[in-house]
Amino acid sequence: MRVIQSISEMQQIAQAARRAGERIAFVPTMGFLHEGHASLMREGRLRSELLVTSIFVNPTQFGAGDDFDCYPRDPERDCTLAAAAGVDLIFAPTSREMYPAGYQSWVDLERITLPLCGASRPGHFRGVTTVVTKLFNAVLPHLALFGKKDFQQLAVIRRMTLDLNLPVEIVGMPIVREADGLAMSSRNAYLSPGERHSALCLSRAIGGAREQYRQGVDDVSRLRAGVLAMLKGEAAAVVEYAEFRHGETLEEVTTAGDNTLLALAVRIGTTRLIDNCLLGEEN
Ligand code: PAF
Repeated sequence: MRVIQSISEMQQIAQAARRAGERIAFVPTMGFLHEGHASLMREGRLRSELLVTSIFVNPTQFGAGDDFDCYPRDPERDCTLAAAAGVDLIFAPTSREMYPAGYQSWVDLERITLPLCGASRPGHFRGVTTVVTKLFNAVLPHLALFGKKDFQQLAVIRRMTLDLNLPVEIVGMPIVREADGLAMSSRNAYLSPGERHSALCLSRAIGGAREQYRQGVDDVSRLRAGVLAMLKGEAAAVVEYAEFRHGETLEEVTTAGDNTLLALAVRIGTTRLIDNCLLGEEN
């Protein structure tokens, strides 16, 4: 498995692979890889001849109070996990390579980036859509795989790909959970053992809402009251948002259906966790 840092070298490899008729699958990451990333890589492996992952902690998607400086990093472990998942090539550019002096171009989407994480992290999605576009232009993938844990990110990237006619198939992959239900995330590493236990309130609240919906409750204000009650039952949890929205447009809904998204962002201590489900889906 090769690790390369240069955009032009990455493009040359991708162009040669395309000339040879190879299909390129791409898993963009910020490193500190876990089983959730590995599941994307294994799926990419099945669907491609060349499997590329990127490891780049993208400064432009972090705001002033965010955790860019302390974002967990472990390049050696990342290489081991990526190799075991069948990755052929890691693209790991430096910040200077991605954003050289004089850089001033941005990809910015409108409505879909405004609610949920977009409301609490202004500028976040502009950083995500810009870096993903730049990574696509470096890796030239036929398909790119993203986890559904970052549901809004996936919806935003689907919208961007459609709006800008990017020739990349976007594949959304199920959330991977720990045995006790906690959604896997690099940020789980910040949690103390006590906080790790408190963090289970997110998956519990999701399970509770699903159960109510299965039993026929489709009034969003009732479902939301149930979710908030479960989250507030956990003393360490500070709710940033708990919202029900349309599963594609992310517009607000008042009556829930199978394609209704329940999206949560909750702080446990200093760690911000997100989780979600579509009410009609099992995962
Ligand atoms: O989901 C992530 O890890 C990041 O937002 C991504 C898509 C790699 C862009 O930096």
